[in-house]
Amino acid sequence: MNVLFTASESYPLLKTGGLGDVVYSLPHALNRLGLDVRVLLPGYRDILSQLDDIQITGWLSVQGAGRMHDVRILSATHPGFELRLWIVDCAELFDRPGNPYLHPDGYDWPDNAERYAVFSRAAAMLAMDVLESGWRADVVHSHDWQTGLVPALLSVETHPPRTVFTIHNLAYGGHFSHDEFMALKLPGHWWSGEGIEFYGGFSMLKAGLVYSDVITTVSPTYASEITTPAFGYGMEGILQANSHKLHGILNGVDTSVWNPSSDPFLTAHYSARRRNPGKRKNKAALLSHFCATVTDRLLSAPLLGMVSRLVEQKGVDLVLEIIPELLTRTNANFVLLGAGHHHLENRITDLSRQHAQRVFSHIGYSEEVAHQLEAGADIFLMPSRFEPCGLNQMYSLLYGTLPVVNDTGGLADTVVDATPANIANRTATGFVMKAPTAQGLLEAVDRALDLHANTRLWNQLQRTAMEQDFGWEKSALEYILLYKNGHAA
Ligand code: ADP
Ligand code: GLC
Repeated sequence: MNVLFTASESYPLLKTGGLGDVVYSLPHALNRLGLDVRVLLPGYRDILSQLDDIQITGWLSVQGAGRMHDVRILSATHPGFELRLWIVDCAELFDRPGNPYLHPDGYDWPDNAERYAVFSRAAAMLAMDVLESGWRADVVHSHDWQTGLVPALLSVETHPPRTVFTIHNLAYGGHFSHDEFMALKLPGHWWSGEGIEFYGGFSMLKAGLVYSDVITTVSPTYASEITTPAFGYGMEGILQANSHKLHGILNGVDTSVWNPSSDPFLTAHYSARRRNPGKRKNKAALLSHFCATVTDRLLSAPLLGMVSRLVEQKGVDLVLEIIPELLTRTNANFVLLGAGHHHLENRITDLSRQHAQRVFSHIGYSEEVAHQLEAGADIFLMPSRFEPCGLNQMYSLLYGTLPVVNDTGGLADTVVDATPANIANRTATGFVMKAPTAQGLLEAVDRALDLHANTRLWNQLQRTAMEQDFGWEKSALEYILLYKNGHAA
């Protein structure tokens, strides 16, 4: 079966969040199960500079916003990516540095509608093998709003491949104006409530929902949450109407990248059976990244960590709100890695300046520090207001860094709360908040700190957490069923 993945980012070439992790790990898992998967990405400057063995597959003339673009389709390899990559190379749209979606000053690129419409048009053409390369997609699997137009464009073809559209985050709808719709020369009949029109503009995400054969999202709980107004971002009605084709499939973890017994970024390796000496060495190494001297006292105090995009979704503000009280009342210390909204970055920096011996921060993006923090912290904070799946809480479980999470989306599907009953039956793996508030977070952190002081129980939870199986195979098999039948089982 030939599957074309169309997405706007992929680890290790370019990643801004969990989408990049999934676009790397799921195709590799599918490939191991015998599928022929090709991954198509935009030719951003940072991607082009990393490619090897570049071959020109062909040229396409693609409609943009009031102009045509000459697009080169490249086929290439990357040392960290086992499958062959396809790249949509269009310098005017993609040869820009840094974050793929944002201008260096932090605002969206003003031509994002055109950039991802051109990318999606090229993707649809390649899926239909217009270049006559001999490879035609049986299934096109598109991800998030940037590729929402792909199923829509294929829906007007005579014998289109099956289209699967995955929602990684409904908060980003790819909303654009009527003028942009007109300039892009999208089919006029799409401009309706049943089509892609959305409150006077149009949404590329909605295009994916309406015109795909199958919709998936990245956890069962999020699949049901998004059919309600609280989580639906205005799409709940469309999702309810399409619930027959909506499936929640939990993301997996690629243990060749996230594995404490082989992770190349760690100072010491460790496993579920032999944890403590290794974890302690990683904690010392992490702390020495921030402090000149790592005292025994610092090393023994509980260390609470967070790795996050600094956006409203993640509840970073809740963490910032409770830190002052925890600093006064407990001996816990904090280490935060993140980048995003400047006001959150500034609040974190201020707090770590005020409490230089107890709150440590790294503002920016660092794959290395992310791995070191997962290994070196004792407790991981993830009080997200909503979380489609969340990968960091799974990485934390596998690294024995017990997570404190809000009771939502993939967090609810992966973390088992340390209630007395779950501790007694040895299923507990973390701490689930009872309310999505600062008070709810404080209560869960207090429970975590109490349990941390009980070495025997802490060891039990750590071991259960590290023995969780988040391998991709089970989820990849669920995707294969959808690819084959258009429905589950
Ligand atoms: P989301 O995709 O919503 O950001 P996930 O938990 O699914 O949340 O995935 C986040 C991914 O991005 C993880 O691999 C995490 O380690 C990584 N990440 C987030 N922020 C940073 C950062 N500042 N530096 C390095 N990695 C980060
Ligand atoms: C999104 C979501 C996150 C999910 C990731 C990968 O960025 O916010 O919850 O884990 O996509 O699917």
